[in-house]
Amino acid sequence: MSNWWKHGIVYQVYPRSFQDADGDGVGDLAGITDRLPYLADLGVDAVWISPIYPSPMADFGYDVADYTGVHELFGTLDDADQLIESAHDLGLKVILDYVVNHSSHQHPWFQESRSSRDNPKRDWYFWKDPGPDGGPPTNWVSRFGGGSAWEFDEQTGQYYLHTYLAEQPDLNWGNADLRRAMLDVLRFWMDRGVDGFRVDVAYRAMVAPQWRDNPPNPDWQEGMDPYRKLQETYTKNLPDAHVVGRMLRDVVDEYDDRVLIGEVTLPVDRLMAFYGENADEYHLPFNFNLIHSDWTADSVREHVDDYEQHVPTTGWPNYVLGNHDQHRFASRVGPEQARVGHMLLLTLRGTPTIYYGDELGMPDGRIPPEMVQDPWELKTPGLGLGRDPARTPMQWSKAPHAGFCPPDAEPWLPVGPDANVINVEVQQQEASSMLSLTKRLIALRRENPALHAGPYRSFDTPEGVFAYARQSPEDDTDRFLIALNFTAETQTWALPDGLHGTVEASARYGRRDDTVRGILALRPNDGLVIRVDHAP
Ligand code: GLC
Repeated sequence: MSNWWKHGIVYQVYPRSFQDADGDGVGDLAGITDRLPYLADLGVDAVWISPIYPSPMADFGYDVADYTGVHELFGTLDDADQLIESAHDLGLKVILDYVVNHSSHQHPWFQESRSSRDNPKRDWYFWKDPGPDGGPPTNWVSRFGGGSAWEFDEQTGQYYLHTYLAEQPDLNWGNADLRRAMLDVLRFWMDRGVDGFRVDVAYRAMVAPQWRDNPPNPDWQEGMDPYRKLQETYTKNLPDAHVVGRMLRDVVDEYDDRVLIGEVTLPVDRLMAFYGENADEYHLPFNFNLIHSDWTADSVREHVDDYEQHVPTTGWPNYVLGNHDQHRFASRVGPEQARVGHMLLLTLRGTPTIYYGDELGMPDGRIPPEMVQDPWELKTPGLGLGRDPARTPMQWSKAPHAGFCPPDAEPWLPVGPDANVINVEVQQQEASSMLSLTKRLIALRRENPALHAGPYRSFDTPEGVFAYARQSPEDDTDRFLIALNFTAETQTWALPDGLHGTVEASARYGRRDDTVRGILALRPNDGLVIRVDHAP
């Protein structure tokens, strides 16, 4: 077992937005294949692609109508094979999204299931009689918009459950035939050479739900996501999710060297359970800690320390700064701190995931109201929940549409207004660009096991500074010190007595090869990766 995913870096591609090869304004598999050399050159190890399957696109592919096909917008199965082959030729792995909790209402399974109460696939989804008052069976609400999570179906007089949109009916993992069919999907893609899966909302899968009302959330206030009005006592993080996690892992383990990543949005203590009691669930339950932390040195240190303390010895850590569901990292923390954040991401122990465009510091795009696409924003406008801003086209060059699609095509979401400055072509030519910084950090990380695999230890530092040591996993021959300034003022920190070292990378650029000892002065919004030459 090479466990490539332990030292590797995952790069997330949102397929609609990466590269449009056929000129319809929507990205596609051939486009991704064309851009694989860019990813290989960047130095990442794996590309995770959000759903590529046939879908009515009610939730942009997270509503799957055929788990073993490719949406015609994205290409064909041949294009998928071609992508996998080209990736492997370049030494890149391919990870697909696996939507475990729900299918599309247009999936033939659901079409059959809804056709009659005695259809053999009836039980592949959750159908229930109306509650005593004739309304929905429970008070559960939909994740998007906060309306009922139950949809009444006239034809058979029952409700079906949809945790997300009514177009996304929940799958019943308690049904053995459904399980077999869904597990075969994993085999189908692994047989084609896919190296792993990112399991969508892995903490929600249900086997045998208790049909009980969720209690109200006392912390909910007007202006908050209406979905949060209720707690989720009976709808998430149930033991069921672990039953499903183990099933998926068993199948993934039938093959060599594959990775199972779980999307698990839970606090650290509960997140840890998704490694599995016997390390038999997810290799990497996604850690969204840094997304949920305040962006201050104190808070980030606390989150990293806490996470490090919790990760079981049989588990492997991982970190995420952004994805297709969050506002862009550079917009959340500002462009200067985005550089500091990537220095952090790429010098922590474990597997980092980079969201496409974040290596350039791409900020949120601006979406005029008439161009809003995301169903979440459409259902609850104006609360800042919409995800379109983080899904705008990848910015490749100064060409029309930032090189994302041909000049005469119209991109499905508008290209960011800053694409003339924030793009791959421009940043590749500037030694001080965010892209050059990201590449430098990735290269350092690859060359030095201390940075990807070695132990982590944080220091007590003045406010505004977060500093930690990394050293080689087997011995302490190779040591690094990372010092990050989370503020817009100069900060100083007295290095441990007698310690001196050489700067390998600076977040703001320009300090490489500086020697440091004594009092370390960090420029505003700067961070340093220091190779320790001598330590007491
Ligand atoms: C996950 C996806 C998100 C999707 C939802 C429903 O959270 O990341 O994009 O809308 O699941 O599948």
